[in-house]
Amino acid sequence: MKRYRIGVLTSGGDCPGLNAAIRAVVCSASLLGWEVFGFIDGFEGLISPVRYQILNEEDTQGIISLGGTILGTTNRGRFTTKTGIGEVMRLPAHLIDEVKETLEGLGIGAIICIGGDGSLTAAQQLYEEGVPIVGVPKTIDNDLSATDYTFGFYSAVEFVCRSLDRLRTTAASHRRVMIVEVMGRYTGWIALYGGLAGGANLILIPEIPFEYSKIAYQVRKRIAEGNFQTMIVVAEGARPKEDPYYVVEEGKERPGEPRLGGVSRQLERVIHQMTGQDTRAVVLGHLQRGGEPTAFDRNLGMMFGAAAVGLIREKRFGYMVSYREGKIGSVPILEAIKELKKVDVHCPEIQTARAMGISFGEE
Ligand code: F6P
Repeated sequence: MKRYRIGVLTSGGDCPGLNAAIRAVVCSASLLGWEVFGFIDGFEGLISPVRYQILNEEDTQGIISLGGTILGTTNRGRFTTKTGIGEVMRLPAHLIDEVKETLEGLGIGAIICIGGDGSLTAAQQLYEEGVPIVGVPKTIDNDLSATDYTFGFYSAVEFVCRSLDRLRTTAASHRRVMIVEVMGRYTGWIALYGGLAGGANLILIPEIPFEYSKIAYQVRKRIAEGNFQTMIVVAEGARPKEDPYYVVEEGKERPGEPRLGGVSRQLERVIHQMTGQDTRAVVLGHLQRGGEPTAFDRNLGMMFGAAAVGLIREKRFGYMVSYREGKIGSVPILEAIKELKKVDVHCPEIQTARAMGISFGEE
């Protein structure tokens, strides 16, 4: 008898925990007697030239601890549906038809899309056109609605925290202002969690526009109090109040969604000019996305992967698995992609930071 077949793909920027999720999909599907086709490079693997790998339990042994994704991924290309906040494009009809043909041709009954906001928007559109698809949320940015956490986030936070530990000793030796730029296009989750855990003195996030004069004031105040080193964490998408544009690295503008980066260099210049302090900027960049997942992210990835197979079993297409208040559940993909989950400026982490005298650059 022919075995039921499902597909799995990873799409969007990679993050630690993807392989754990893939392994859980494969193990739980195998237990049900299903076959798993892993599509290569995200949705791209579903269209000509179709690329996939049949995955079984043995193939995925030992991958739980690996960063990245064994299936490959892409965060642009023909399935791009979101450019910037809220600007949604429809997938061309011929792509949707091709996806359907591939699934039909291979006898695949359903597909799991492991992706962030942009990829799940594409998944939703495919679902609306009749593709049996379920979602698994992932992103280091932790900015997806309808789930408290996405895997990849805590691994990135851990790296930021360890980087601050290292940078603090050199900043102290040289009595410098050290600015650490972290990822987070539209939200400041990584900056907030990493900065708080890593003992930052100022944390600058997109949700709280900063003022240069307030940052300079904090640096001078610290010096007056005998603290000659200042640690500042800034999310790549943080912006000054007086200049509400994202800082885009020169020569790295790209149509649709700009490639952010460089806000730390801008801060480095201005803080030095305003305070006379020796100042250095460090951009952590893709180091935050690479490397092995933390135990939390491995477990979350596996819980999501196994739950996604459960969704297919129950034929709950158009749904995404989620983690809320310590429970694994599911929500319509539509709910997860309607708006980005921003940092609530009254959340306990912000309150704690403020209570400890950590500045957000606005007062
Ligand atoms: O995964 C999201 C993200 O990490 C953003 O924070 C960042 O702006 C972007 O990916 C960088 O992506 P790329 O790999 O295209 O440089």
